[in-house]
Amino acid sequence: MRKKLIAGNWKMYKTIPETEELIKAVLKEALPKGVGIAICPPFTSLMAAASLLKGSGIHLGAQNMSENDEGAFTGEISWKMLKSAGCDMVILGHSERRQYYGETNEKVNAKARKALANGLTPIVCVGETLQEREGGVMEKVVGGQIRGCLAGFSAPDVESLVIAYEPVWAIGTGRNATPEQAQSVHAFIRGLVSELHSAATAEKIVIQYGGSVKPDNAANLLCQHDIDGALVGGACLKAESFGAIIRAAGV
Ligand code: PGA
Repeated sequence: MRKKLIAGNWKMYKTIPETEELIKAVLKEALPKGVGIAICPPFTSLMAAASLLKGSGIHLGAQNMSENDEGAFTGEISWKMLKSAGCDMVILGHSERRQYYGETNEKVNAKARKALANGLTPIVCVGETLQEREGGVMEKVVGGQIRGCLAGFSAPDVESLVIAYEPVWAIGTGRNATPEQAQSVHAFIRGLVSELHSAATAEKIVIQYGGSVKPDNAANLLCQHDIDGALVGGACLKAESFGAIIRAAGV
């Protein structure tokens, strides 16, 4: 049985005091045992978050990471820095990084490789645009992203990372994929992992859905066979809605 993982992507929201307030409120929520939880605040909030999350069992993740170890890379953050700030996860290849900062599958592959080699669990994001879906090339696009982002990875590497399927047209739009639409892409991704590696690896890999996940649609998405959790944007910025989504994963 795959354990469900609910991750909150805070994006570019929350100062340090606001971070402390939100994390304290999340910790006061009734959180079911048996559901993995991750909080991914901005870099500047990582240490404050780490100190409040200590002993809670909640994972701490960053939203991006350099593929380099160190050096003259102004504005970049390395895996070592993330680990020393208390992270054990990192979101990579989010569609906003792909769209606004030119991240390619090759870049995401290099970053995920670096994360895996250094004990950080990458959450590798994939997903098609509305134009691609309507043009009938969704499987080609998402399949290409999976092949590119995971190229050259061993089965144990693939088993220890997380994939987040986030249709770009559903992110921040209030328009989520239906549970059936999401399930069918998740099954496609799992099938592809099986083809690239093995059925056993495909059974193990955690595939989250992301894109306008809210308390009122979470349960129907999370009960789908191949949906193993959620990557939550807007709804994770309020403890009550993040808590409700986590509880929906626990039933
Ligand atoms: P959203 O964002 O829940 O606000 O749609 C999801 C994401 O971008 O990870």
